[in-house]
Amino acid sequence: MSKKSFIAFAIAAAVVGTSGAAMAADAAAGEEVFKKRCTACHALDKAKTGPALGGVVGRQAGSTDFKRYKGLVGADFEWTPELLDEYIADPKKFVVNNTSNKRSSMTYKLKDAEERADVIEYLKTTN
Ligand code: HEC
Repeated sequence: MSKKSFIAFAIAAAVVGTSGAAMAADAAAGEEVFKKRCTACHALDKAKTGPALGGVVGRQAGSTDFKRYKGLVGADFEWTPELLDEYIADPKKFVVNNTSNKRSSMTYKLKDAEERADVIEYLKTTN
């Protein structure tokens, strides 16, 4: 490897190292995460235990015909990838910090940052 390409490699490695999850987000892996971790409660096209998630990226939070919204009732924002990441990591904490509600009816937390990045990447493809 030439000195120049080594430097380029080192910079790329450093960038991936600091924000690896976001850089490596993978929709195909995210589909598997969705099937494994989310479909117990969510489908893309209809409400189950939780609201339909097809097209959720860019959608107004709490806006489907789902009847049992609790934490997202009256939410005044649209879901961005950043907000989704914060929400899926800890819905209750998100609700306390970002809405006037205190409780969340989604209790599941996805703790793995890379799985969150992947599942959000997948959800983007459902728009
Ligand atoms: C145990 C059931 C359950 C699981 C598992 C679950 N959710 Fe949820 N989810 C809910 C419920 C219930 C709500 C409604 C929350 C509220 O209003 O307090 C919700 C709301 C959401 C919302 C907000 C949708 C909207 O219309 O604003 C998103 C996004 C979401 N879930 C993503 C996920 C993802 C991604 C996973 C998998 C990693 C997941 N959920 C796993 C039950 C679940």
